[in-house]
Order: sequence, then C-alpha cells, then structure tokens
Amino acid sequence: MDATKTLHFDSEPYDAIINANKNNPGALLTVLEEAQKITPHQYLPEPVLRHIAERMNVPLSRINSIVTFYSFFNLKPQGDHTITVCRGTACHTRGSKTLLEDVLLKLGIDAKSTNASSFTTDDMRFTVRTVACFGQCALAPVIAVDEVIYSNMTSEKLEALLKKLTARRPKS
Ligand code: FES
Repeated sequence: MDATKTLHFDSEPYDAIINANKNNPGALLTVLEEAQKITPHQYLPEPVLRHIAERMNVPLSRINSIVTFYSFFNLKPQGDHTITVCRGTACHTRGSKTLLEDVLLKLGIDAKSTNASSFTTDDMRFTVRTVACFGQCALAPVIAVDEVIYSNMTSEKLEALLKKLTARRPKS
C-alpha cells in the first residue's frame, strides 16, 4: 500500500503555518517549505498538499507544478541523512561518478534497477541524490551531507565519513 496516500496527519501545525503566512507575498512557497520541514522524513505527502490547496484556496495543480519544479521539495519520505553528490562537469572530471557509485555500494542501494533521481535506504537512514552544481567547482569534487559541504572529496575521505555516519544512532 502507498503510505503517502493513506497518511493521516494532524492538520493543526499546518494550519498554524498557513495562518502565519497567509498575508505574505510568496506565501505559498513559504508554506510549502515550512510544511516540508515539520513533516516527519521531510517531505510533502499528497494529503498535506491537498490540505494546503484547500486552505489557501489554490488549485492543487498549481501546487503540484511548484513542488515538482523546485528540487528542494521532496515528494517521497527522506532518510535521516541526505548525501548529495555533485555531478556537474568539474566534479565529474575529478571523479564524482566513482564517489556516487561508492556511496550507493556502501549503503547497499541498487540504483541500476530504477530511474529514480534519489534513493533512500530501506531503513530510512540515508537518502542519496545528485545535484547539477554546488557552485564550488574550484573545490571539486564536492559532496554534501545534510547541509554541510565537503570539498576535494576522495574515496578514502568518503569512506571515513560514511563510517562515522553509519555508526550514529538512527533517529527514532
Ligand atoms: S560541478 Fe561540482 S561544484 Fe560545480
């Protein structure tokens, strides 16, 4: 069963966000961003999108085009940690493809069997995604773990980083 369609949620925190922003210009984008932040696993489930559309009197189709346009919106549950590998030209030239393969392999993600652009481990601890450029090409190859950027990355440094991350206790 698709958990995103059957999610029951407490609408109160979402209504609080809507009420706090309703008179702001660009309210919809802010509301969607805030809603994603307060949703466990940092995503926007369909029932939440429907609720926002209804309360803000905005067509669901408009909301859908916004959340699919901006890559920082997630439509699927995310892992506790997000590892983003840059696949821009500078990073590619300096080995980011190998880094991406290393991460996927270490986390046991079989990326070949799917066309998805991001991958989440079954235990929901990690999401791996790619980005077109972090704007830090001089420091290539670049990866990010959650909000932290790591430059001049190597397979060895990456392995040490992953060891540290996997040793952490999962979020409950
Ligand atoms: S190509 Fe990777 S930071 Fe620009």
